[in-house]
Amino acid sequence: MERIPVLQVGMGGVGRTLVEQVLTFNERFGGRYGFRFAYVGLADRQGAIVADERIPPAVLLEALAAKRAGSSLADVPAGGPLLDWRNLLTPVPCIIVDVTAQDDAELGLAEAVVQGHRVVLANKKPLCGSMETFRALTERGNTRYEATVGAGLPVISTLRSLLDTGDPVTRISGCFSGTLGFLMTQLEDGQPFSAAVLEAKQRGWTEPDPRDDLSGMDVARKALILARTSGFSAEMEDVAVEPLFPDQLGALSTEEFLAELPTLDHEYRDRFDTIAGQGTTLRYAAQVALDRLSVALTEVPRDSPIGSLRGPDNLVVFQTQRYAERPLSVRGPGAGVEVTAAGVLSDMIALGREWR
Ligand SMILES: NC(=O)c1ccc[n+]([C@@H]2O[C@H](COP(=O)([O-])OP(=O)(O)OC[C@H]3O[C@@H](n4cnc5c(N)ncnc54)[C@H](OP(=O)(O)O)[C@@H]3O)[C@@H](O)[C@H]2O)c1
Repeated sequence: MERIPVLQVGMGGVGRTLVEQVLTFNERFGGRYGFRFAYVGLADRQGAIVADERIPPAVLLEALAAKRAGSSLADVPAGGPLLDWRNLLTPVPCIIVDVTAQDDAELGLAEAVVQGHRVVLANKKPLCGSMETFRALTERGNTRYEATVGAGLPVISTLRSLLDTGDPVTRISGCFSGTLGFLMTQLEDGQPFSAAVLEAKQRGWTEPDPRDDLSGMDVARKALILARTSGFSAEMEDVAVEPLFPDQLGALSTEEFLAELPTLDHEYRDRFDTIAGQGTTLRYAAQVALDRLSVALTEVPRDSPIGSLRGPDNLVVFQTQRYAERPLSVRGPGAGVEVTAAGVLSDMIALGREWR
């Protein structure tokens, strides 16, 4: 049975769930595929556990328990302090899994790909640096990133199969954020903006600082990833982004920002009241086309696919040469640690199947 070395960076909600799913895969399905994943490195912000051959399952379970209890991997008996995950790269090729939200990893990952390592990302940021780095990371086909758009939904794999079968994309549109989808549904149902943001935060559906969602940047990154994967050469500055709060609230601390949220209630109530009775609603929608890259609050017919979305569901609509009149769409829950980890694991399995 082949052992495929894995270095996982990140042990947050997605990372911990992924370790559990990998252990289950090894036990139940490794035999069917002829390989198992062997963790040779596991890192968080401050620490790491490493092994030459593999970290034993019992040690992985200890690491999970420690992370759930709020400790660092630096503090578990098998662990130690770590300054930089790049120090853990093995001399033989491994799968590097980035389940962090770090924003300075792309060059290290691109270099690792050149050295023969494979990369699997839930983290969008490494794909949103320069176009040149995106190409360096992806051109060999050794970097996979299904979970970066739509979490576990088959968005990137659908796009790839359209492109690989010679069906060029003319437009991709939809709602790519579960958090903003929830927010719009709550506003539509009459909840004040401030209360809806706080409820999303309490449910664990926003980043610790909700401005990371409300700025539109998370959706903009997804739009850029889809554009680049479609073959459009684009930079982050090419995406027109409409934030959901004014500039002056950007400089506040998180607590001050949360305290100021009620000052926006009136504006959002007005925007929904203005369109009441017209058969339309507002959605935070993305447009990806050669001549247009934008993410913005958009008025849409209430009975359209996008207008009928409820809660944190995502919708990604592909308009292509073949799917011109009736576009192809992928719809479903676009967030959550279980589905996101499963998206990462399916990329790992795909790389494992072509390992030799
Ligand atoms: N949650 C979802 O539903 C979802 C859906 C799709 C995509 N994603 C993406 O998946 C990624 C992970 O999400 P999450 O919810 O698991 O985040 P999270 O709970 O905040 O966990 C992030 C993990 O990354 C670690 N980390 C951060 N910077 C690091 C660095 N420089 N070196 C090593 N480790 C580092 C953190 O270490 P500490 O534990 O020491 O803080 C933590 O373990 C994010 O990029 C997110 O956007 C998430």
